[in-house]
Amino acid sequence: MDKNGEETRPTFDGMGLPPFPHLLEDAKKRFEELRNLECRKDDIILATYPKSGTHWVWEIVCMILKKKAEYMKETKEFLFLEAIPDISVVDNLASPRPLNTHVPYRWLPRQHIENGGKIVHVLRNPKDVAVSMYHHFNNGKMFEEPVDFKTFYEKIFMGPAPHMGGWFSYEKEFENAEATDTRGAIFTVHYESMKKNPIDETKRLAKFLNVDLTDEIIAEIVDKCSFKKLKEATEAMKDLPNFANRKDPGTVKRIMSRMYRKGEIGDWKNHFTVALNEHFDAFYKEEMKDSKLQVQFE
Ligand code: A3P
Repeated sequence: MDKNGEETRPTFDGMGLPPFPHLLEDAKKRFEELRNLECRKDDIILATYPKSGTHWVWEIVCMILKKKAEYMKETKEFLFLEAIPDISVVDNLASPRPLNTHVPYRWLPRQHIENGGKIVHVLRNPKDVAVSMYHHFNNGKMFEEPVDFKTFYEKIFMGPAPHMGGWFSYEKEFENAEATDTRGAIFTVHYESMKKNPIDETKRLAKFLNVDLTDEIIAEIVDKCSFKKLKEATEAMKDLPNFANRKDPGTVKRIMSRMYRKGEIGDWKNHFTVALNEHFDAFYKEEMKDSKLQVQFE
């Protein structure tokens, strides 16, 4: 966004793009590589709209798959399909691969969908998503100058080419996919449920992934993935492989501290004015009038 508040990011297929150099260079190529990715039957794709709690749920998924409450030494970015400079690096990884992406459903790897491969989807109150994204963009210096929340909300979150196509389009597409998912391949976890009831939600997730875990291990996973512990562990020991320019631990720490900001439900109340909130509610009502999505607005 420039200093007049105008959106300046390149777009592709209605999506404002994140500033990954290869995406900005040739977005169509990467999106097609992603959709044509060779998949294995036991791949798991964590598919989320950005800022919905992806890092958190990715770590939980990884611990479930390992059957151990042990942190991954890498951040989820090493399997972040649109962000890794060379997507073919995933070919060399051991199974099961916990891949992750923010691309809309229509761009997910086709073969994974044909295989009936498992998809874990995280749904979060879009008002909190907007606030989380606002801080992520401001702290990540994605604007020429810092912008206020209202400008971000109007120009980017609800703008003409919102980030990755926007929350509404992303979640409606997912809802349709879930409605026609006869093989039970899609599992949706609500950020708010995971926060309020992590033991039960983690058990549900393990069951979906067909992994048997004792109550002790589930409790340990939940504890190690609590906001404070996961943030500290990430900043202390994680590595960002596959990003040639991000080997320096200071950079990793800086990038990762943006991913673990507050970790709460309802921070939107500190950012939305009454007028913005009314605008959002009216827009939601109209835009989602045919939707049965059960967003947890509180
Ligand atoms: P906030 O900015 O509201 O704090 P993503 O991983 O998709 O980028 O989502 C980031 C959001 O998830 C951030 O929200 C972050 O703080 C929150 N988050 C990360 N780890 C969490 C955890 N262990 N528990 C709760 N929220 C977490």
